[in-house]
Amino acid sequence: MGPLMDRFGREHNYLRISVTDRCNLRCVYCMPEEGVEFTDTSNLLSFEQITEVVQSAARFGVTKLRITGGEPLVRKNLDQLIRMLASIPGISDISMTTNGILLAPQAEALRDAGLNRVNISLDTLSSARFKFIARRGELRRVLEGIEAAGRVGFDPIKLNCVLLRGVNEDEIGDFLQMAYEQPLHVRFIEYMPIGHADDNWRKQYLPLTRVLEIADERGMSYRSRDDVSGSGPSDNYEIIGGRGSFGLIHPISDEFCKRCNRLRLTADGYLKPCLYWMEELNVRQALGSEDAMEALLRKALDLKPESHEMAATLAGGTLSHVPTERRMSQIGG
Ligand code: GTP
Ligand code: 5AD
Ligand code: SF4
Repeated sequence: MGPLMDRFGREHNYLRISVTDRCNLRCVYCMPEEGVEFTDTSNLLSFEQITEVVQSAARFGVTKLRITGGEPLVRKNLDQLIRMLASIPGISDISMTTNGILLAPQAEALRDAGLNRVNISLDTLSSARFKFIARRGELRRVLEGIEAAGRVGFDPIKLNCVLLRGVNEDEIGDFLQMAYEQPLHVRFIEYMPIGHADDNWRKQYLPLTRVLEIADERGMSYRSRDDVSGSGPSDNYEIIGGRGSFGLIHPISDEFCKRCNRLRLTADGYLKPCLYWMEELNVRQALGSEDAMEALLRKALDLKPESHEMAATLAGGTLSHVPTERRMSQIGG
């Protein structure tokens, strides 16, 4: 009945819930442009089933939830799920990671249902480049989503910027400037090879060391801060004199698995102990029984490896386990 502790003494209080593997964009680092097969809607966990998993997890110390996709807002009536999750005893923080395209019209309903905050993907500030990176949709919609998030009071608002060598690295300075001028928390993220450790990933992977160099070149003063609300892997910095802040998520150049506190639930009903590896357990086998669900959660923790091996993948070394074949859109990041 104790907390969700794994073999390496890491306590798990955070569950990331993917509610769909579908998306209205096709970001180059996440999905191929054509030919993606999606889970049949009839095979998605229902809101009631997701709620049952969370009720069990909350009994063993999970307090934070993140709703992810694909793009979570393409799932209908998502505010109903948020309302169901917000009423579970012990759940104190519900957030969502979204591409922002559908956020503006839904922001208020989501907040009223109990969503506390949002992380919004934004990899470029140029509409033309947005077409290249996201392949679909319009940057304007995302910017409207960010604005709506501020208007309805989501706080903090975090922006996720995946850096791609030769694609958007020249915008690091502009993103830092944005964080200086606006009350936003901009996170730079290293491109991860989830489901596709190919040559293109090797070419486009960019270590985040460039970000602090550019801040220095621009004469920006910053200092480490640990008061950004959230439980993710970001190292956060305050910009002295600025309105916002920035963060670095560097799984490859500086791995952060020692402080991993999360489990993942996929839209098609699998519990994933780690983003990177193949291990997963079917939650449908445990639905309907509290004991079986507890046993499943603990088994997931027993299966959890100490760390991912993305750096070894980059260096072409051999790996200790088999990496997942799921794309990022089928896990939710
Ligand atoms: P906060 O609670 O706001 O700190 O959220 P978060 O940063 O955990 O969530 P978000 O969905 O915004 O993820 C930001 C980036 O971090 C994405 O690229 C995720 O894939 C990545 N990320 C989140 N958790 C993990 C993790 O456990 N391992 C790795 N390698 N990457 C992760
Ligand atoms: N590497 C790093 N981050 C990724 N994301 C999606 N695919 C990748 C990848 N290959 C990010 C998205 C989103 C979050 C869920 O994960 O930008 O913000
Ligand atoms: Fe869609 Fe997010 Fe994947 Fe982009 S990163 S294709 S927005 S699921």
